[in-house]
Amino acid sequence: MSINCTNREALDDFLRTNLKESRYRHSQGVEEMAVRLARLHGADEEKAAFAGRYHDIAKNFDTETMDSYVRKYGLPEKLIGNNALAHSKVGAEILEHEFGVSDREILDAVRYHTTACKDMTILEELIFVADVVEDNRTYSDLEYYQNLAYTDLDKACLEILEYTIGSLTTRGMVIDIDTLEARDWVLNKIKEIENGK
Ligand SMILES: [Fe+2]
Ligand SMILES: [Fe+2]
Repeated sequence: MSINCTNREALDDFLRTNLKESRYRHSQGVEEMAVRLARLHGADEEKAAFAGRYHDIAKNFDTETMDSYVRKYGLPEKLIGNNALAHSKVGAEILEHEFGVSDREILDAVRYHTTACKDMTILEELIFVADVVEDNRTYSDLEYYQNLAYTDLDKACLEILEYTIGSLTTRGMVIDIDTLEARDWVLNKIKEIENGK
């Protein structure tokens, strides 16, 4: 199976042109980690590679460019001036409308890689996790989170979400509703699996 995309070469050019060197390396790291996690947890490796590679395609846009894409694609007003949240939503729109990517699962994995959301597919979950645990990350608990991701994707997802929510709370920042819903959803999913055992 190959993924629908009008011009893969142009897409790669776009990625290279628009990402800083370190962000490009991170994208390669997420691609590799996503494939590793897909293999371990039984997801589509080709889709994982694709979503991992292009998930941050809009990450290094300046605010003016980002805002123009938010308006072009009629995305929510709350994304204006908020590159951290906007880049995942804008990235999905660019992949779909400028490069003909039509796979819903890939588009949603890119769209929700920053916030996560409830009812995620394995692909969405593993891209969310791979983004945090790829090999180029440098925080002290990296190995712990990588091992958790290899053995239990849901628990890795839960711990990352709880860390994120805690950290945003401590810093007095607003938490996206999708992140809060994702945490409860994955917690319930884990409980249901445990109860079913
Ligand atoms: Fe990102
Ligand atoms: Fe990323």
